[in-house]
Amino acid sequence: MTTGEKRPPVREVRIVSIGSYVPPKVLTNADIEKMVDTSDEWIVTRTGISERHVADETIAASDLGVAAARLALERAGVSPGELDAIVVATVTPDMDFPSTACIVQAALGATRAFCFDVSAGCSGFLYATQVGRSLIASGIAETVLVIGVEVLTKITDWTDRNTCVLFGDGAGAAILRPADGEHRILALRLGADGTHGSLIELPAGGSREPITHEAIDQRRHFIRMKGNEVFRLGVRTMEEVARATMEEAGVTSDQLALFISHQANMRIIEATAKRLGLPDEKVFCNLRKYGNTSAASVPLALDEALAEGRVKEGDLVLLVVFGAGLTWGGCLLRW
Ligand code: UT7
Repeated sequence: MTTGEKRPPVREVRIVSIGSYVPPKVLTNADIEKMVDTSDEWIVTRTGISERHVADETIAASDLGVAAARLALERAGVSPGELDAIVVATVTPDMDFPSTACIVQAALGATRAFCFDVSAGCSGFLYATQVGRSLIASGIAETVLVIGVEVLTKITDWTDRNTCVLFGDGAGAAILRPADGEHRILALRLGADGTHGSLIELPAGGSREPITHEAIDQRRHFIRMKGNEVFRLGVRTMEEVARATMEEAGVTSDQLALFISHQANMRIIEATAKRLGLPDEKVFCNLRKYGNTSAASVPLALDEALAEGRVKEGDLVLLVVFGAGLTWGGCLLRW
């Protein structure tokens, strides 16, 4: 045959291992009470958050990402030199460029890997996982490191009580490889609606509105969010994407071992789980300790769920995310 190379068959993909890391410093609700007009009682009842880990001035996104990645690599028994690609999901990169993925590559010594970042807000981990999955399914890569990392506290307005109580810093990493049995990603769906972009945004600092003294005076270099609109859309959208993901895999909610939603607000998680008919014991929640860690929240939760024995081999686990963009996604795993 003189035609071009034959494409390898589409391959199923598996998450081989997960690792996560949070910076050591903890900021409690009592600490925030001293900064803005709020109370532990308001924060706990409206969000479910009691404390969050924050990166100090010496720590950037790549530092958290590298720590999570090292754990994931070790657990998978994979050396950095085996990585074909590194995909980092973040909206708080170390700097605009080079990409945080390239910085992670250098720190790990993953010399064979090509590297790039993905921006999808709190949905970033599933967006990056879908990219990694596609690279493997198409035969372009064998082993991909996917990281969801965020240091949102560095772009938080610590004078705005509407947002500053919500966020925390952290990283989660996953090693993806071709599936060698039933353990695999059964379905992964993504969606976006850019018409709602202004509901969660960082107005200044890009090419539309470069940083100026005026922008800083107006605090436009910090996160702005219309929380209750995001809340309403979040519950509806997460229910929809959860159902669509299960349907794609031919699975019903009663077959799930665990539901892990983006950890933004306890009331959002409870409302979504209720709509899906899931009992409390099948709903994982760790945002009390971490707050909303954006792209890190789902892998951080999955790592804890595994450590606590809440996910066992062969279990069906549904991951659902929602965030800035707006973006969303659902992923059904046979662990
Ligand atoms: O990760 C990306 C996705 N993000 C999310 O999913 C976040 C979604 N949204 C939320 O989690 C919630 O909307 C919030 C926790 C942000 C807010 O809860 P809410 O029940 O939607 O409250 P609200 O925004 O409707 O505000 C209710 C009141 C307001 O006072 P008035 O205007 O009713 O007098 C706020 O000023 O609560 C006030 N408030 C606070 N009070 C004490 C807002 N923040 C605080 C605070 N402490 N920290």
